[in-house]
Amino acid sequence: MLEEVRQKLRDARRVFVLTGAGVSAESGVPTFRGGGHSAVWKGLPFSVISSAGMVERDLPAVWEWFDYRRGVLESLKPNPAHTTLARWQDRFTALTLATQNIDGLHAAAGSRGVLELHGSIWRARCTRCRHHEDLRQLDQFVRPPICGKCNGTMRPDVVLFGETLPVSVFEQAAEGARRCDVCFVIGTSALVYPAAGLADIARDAGAYLVEINPEQTPLSQLCDATLRGAAGELVPRLDLK
Ligand code: OAD
Repeated sequence: MLEEVRQKLRDARRVFVLTGAGVSAESGVPTFRGGGHSAVWKGLPFSVISSAGMVERDLPAVWEWFDYRRGVLESLKPNPAHTTLARWQDRFTALTLATQNIDGLHAAAGSRGVLELHGSIWRARCTRCRHHEDLRQLDQFVRPPICGKCNGTMRPDVVLFGETLPVSVFEQAAEGARRCDVCFVIGTSALVYPAAGLADIARDAGAYLVEINPEQTPLSQLCDATLRGAAGELVPRLDLK
């Protein structure tokens, strides 16, 4: 199966990659689901602490949760799946890399123009004027941060439960999916829409669909190739020589 996928890659001009939490698992980032676990923080299920309702009810608690997660991420490094995908951007006519991850590890590995479907944990966004700040550059530690443009209250620039994806980012990803020859779906449970629907878009447009995941997902049966195993091991083995 690996050899067949390698051959498809040799012939491919346009490649689309959708990644999820599993691509960062070997860097030490906990996944949300899988292995029988689902994320919980201070007794609150992930779907509650990371929800639009929580921003309304208790924005400081949301900041506390995202500050905690950023603290965990600070020392983590990209793994061989991230670095291989970063190299792929110079190998094809077009490579579109869309991620559901907010951890910034694709960019840290050198990927350019990553489509962050669920936003970034490293950015804050003003709730009033939508001005963005990179939290790594922001030298204020008040929570919530105050917008430098309009004095509004800032929130993490991530997509929360009950919110929609940034339209233009999703549209760019959908375009990449529609136009690709080969589509990779790596390290995602493929349960969260509309992100998971990008694989359907690629498949409906005739792409060769490859899943890389140690576990079966709802997408598995639609795939042309399913590679069972860890992304950090399998993606480098697909690297073009
Ligand atoms: P999940 O936690 O739902 O799924 C992680 C997937 O990665 C599972 O299918 C695992 O089997 C797989 N996996 C684990 N280790 C792996 C490895 N080393 N290599 C490859 N795959 C591995 O994460 P997502 O699908 O990314 O949304 O979750 C989607 C969205 O659900 C997240 O972006 C988040 C959450 O709600 C928001 O926060 C908006």
